[in-house]
Amino acid sequence: MAGRIPQHFIDELLARIDIVDIVDAYVPLKKAGRNHQACCPFHDEKTPSFTVSQQKQFYHCFGCGANGTAISFLMEYLHMDFIEAIEDLASRAGVEIPRDAIQSSAANNQSSELYELMEIVTGYYSKQLRNHSQANSVINYLKSRGISGEIAAEYELGFAPPGWDNLMTELGGSDGAQKRLLKIGAIIENDRGGYYDRFRDRLTFPIRDQRGRAIGMGGRVLGDDKPKYLNSPETPIFHKGRELYGLYQARKTLKEVDSLFVVEGYMDVIALAQFGIRNAVASLGTAATPEHMEKMFRVTSKIVFCFDGDEAGNKAAWRGLENSLPLLKDDKQVYFMFLPEGEDPDTFVRNKGKEAFLDTNLQTPLSEYLFSYLSKDKDLKSLESQASMAKITLPFIGKLSSAPALSSVLVRKLSDITKIPPEELTVQLREYKQTGSIKTPLHSSGSTFKKDDGQQSQLTEAIKLLLRKPELALDDSLNQKLAEIEVRGIEFLIEIVKYIQSNPSTTIAGITENYRDREKIRNRLIELAPSESQYGDADFSDESIRDSFLDSMNRLKEITIDSRLREFGNLSNMDELTEEKKREWRLLLEAKKQLKMAKS
Ligand code: CTP
Ligand code: MN
Repeated sequence: MAGRIPQHFIDELLARIDIVDIVDAYVPLKKAGRNHQACCPFHDEKTPSFTVSQQKQFYHCFGCGANGTAISFLMEYLHMDFIEAIEDLASRAGVEIPRDAIQSSAANNQSSELYELMEIVTGYYSKQLRNHSQANSVINYLKSRGISGEIAAEYELGFAPPGWDNLMTELGGSDGAQKRLLKIGAIIENDRGGYYDRFRDRLTFPIRDQRGRAIGMGGRVLGDDKPKYLNSPETPIFHKGRELYGLYQARKTLKEVDSLFVVEGYMDVIALAQFGIRNAVASLGTAATPEHMEKMFRVTSKIVFCFDGDEAGNKAAWRGLENSLPLLKDDKQVYFMFLPEGEDPDTFVRNKGKEAFLDTNLQTPLSEYLFSYLSKDKDLKSLESQASMAKITLPFIGKLSSAPALSSVLVRKLSDITKIPPEELTVQLREYKQTGSIKTPLHSSGSTFKKDDGQQSQLTEAIKLLLRKPELALDDSLNQKLAEIEVRGIEFLIEIVKYIQSNPSTTIAGITENYRDREKIRNRLIELAPSESQYGDADFSDESIRDSFLDSMNRLKEITIDSRLREFGNLSNMDELTEEKKREWRLLLEAKKQLKMAKS
């Protein structure tokens, strides 16, 4: 992997470029008040609800909830990956991505060497399929599975001949060459310090990344030996959790990728391609990771999970659902296709044909799967089972932070199922999003909601204000104040404050980019980012924002004091307190009084 791009560089880059220019080049913008507007490029609409704020260097669509920085825009709109987006912005701004990390440029050189070598290995194995004296065994095997020469050629299937050192002899002529072969996982070191070929007597499947670079491979035995499949290990250029087998070929063959089928295996992709279904990718035997999901949603708006009709397939489907939720947008859909027990996409398409496989009646929408899975063992007749259904379902709905419309439809549906009024569920949902748990009893007689003492909402409010006006973090007395606050989640506020303090010119865009690797937090921040409708162009003066922020800090301090005071319990046992404790108690009372006075 190339070295990390330093965060301060990203921050400076975002400060140098102007998101309005970037977006305007693809989506012509009109000035409207302090912002710029257009019809949203991420969903269909007739009246513009997509706004770009020059001040915040942030875009936001009120219609579909799409939002983000210039980096996100390039990733979403032009399907770039993160590095590509940075490279693009850097070249627009005329700056060099810091190569000061000499390591990182050395790593780059080394990687390009490894990519080249992997390409040679790929070529070597596909040549063996054409020329090797024993290649008939694979050719017959492919025939027996109904794979034509064209498809084999298109997917560059190959043959790793029997024997321990075919590749070694061909390509491992020097120490350096052996080291590199080892690095890409093509050979394995034995106990005696010698090497042998990883892939022997197997049908090989080269794996290419989206840019078409050879990065790894898989190999299948021709008979019933074990293990059935071998894969390249994790290497500097191959990360299984990130790559999707077949995505490169799908994008190459199809102009528009309307949807993608996610299947488990190499042979599923190949068999579907054989039947003219070119939009299948395999997650290589692992459940789809969030990285996989992001990758796919960059090229299509509909994903259909189609795993084997067995226990493992069902598990993988559920994992796919869990990983999809945070990435769903109202214009991106996920479906699940459950094959009959014992079938996989390969056998299904061969037995039933293309039309049957593509029949959308077989595709269950995510929402339906979610409810049916969670209600599996519930009768939903008793109040208790309804309450428990609500309690276990809400956290899943709570993960839909980028799909507000879907989220509210699901709340309504949950209300139908559980007979709990939607307003009540909405309150629970908000509580869950703020605190990470649901404390309020559902189906309580009457709807008296037990509130926490407001700490989470105060904390949220403080973060919101800080995002709106990052300079608030530069106040000299703030660190002292924060140190005195003890409420759950305060570390998060402190972390943001620290970040702003070390990057004083940052904007909300820079802050969210800082959390690109920590998706949950980033989504939460984006959620809390001020939307234009909430804080229109007018009202809120800088003064009033600062005041509200100080209020929040004071309120959090007060909550801290109150909860410490509560620990002292009932004052009738005052006499039992040590002198030291008494002193502490008095100090707390004093601090509380001070706060009260500051307020008035
Ligand atoms: N897999 C693996 N190692 C194994 C078994 C499976 O890496 N020992 C991965 C491979 O990527 C394989 C996928 O999991 O393609 C699905 O495995 P499985 O369903 O067992 O294989 P099929 O794709 O059905 O293979 P085939 O039809 O060739 O038997
Ligand atoms: Mn199979």
